Amino acid sequence: MPKPIYVLNGPNLNLLGEREPEIYGADTLEDVRKRCKIRAAAAELTIEFHQSNHEGELIGWVQEARTKASALVINPAGYGHTSVALLDALKTLEIPIIECHLSNPAARERFRRFTYVSLAAKGVVSGFGVMSYELAIDAAAALVRASA
Ligand code: DQA
Repeated sequence: MPKPIYVLNGPNLNLLGEREPEIYGADTLEDVRKRCKIRAAAAELTIEFHQSNHEGELIGWVQEARTKASALVINPAGYGHTSVALLDALKTLEIPIIECHLSNPAARERFRRFTYVSLAAKGVVSGFGVMSYELAIDAAAALVRASA
């Protein structure tokens, strides 16, 4: 069995379902976790799913993923637009990194158009709501399979 896919979620994503539902939808983060788990299981993979409002905690999981994960899916939320430290941590990984967003940041305010995380990501999935995560898991699974 390959190592799990780490799925990391940045600040405020714990409030999914309540937070700006017109942008982020009605599903909760627990719904997202369940759908990621099902999608990974379809590819005979497992996930490690985490959320934090703290930059350092997210960086801790990224560092853990260096040895414990087969791929990393990350919705960095607001930290994607601000965190050089998160980018630096991601750059230490040799496994594929897929960035994902529920909304399409490129179609929103100007400051959302750039993410530091993209500089380390193999690819980005944005704008499909929870399906962004499912597509990111599919991409991660395909990359894991290709490297096996
Ligand atoms: C987000 C988009 C970010 O710009 C924002 O800061 C978020 C959520 C998304 O999933 O669409 O918190 O990452």
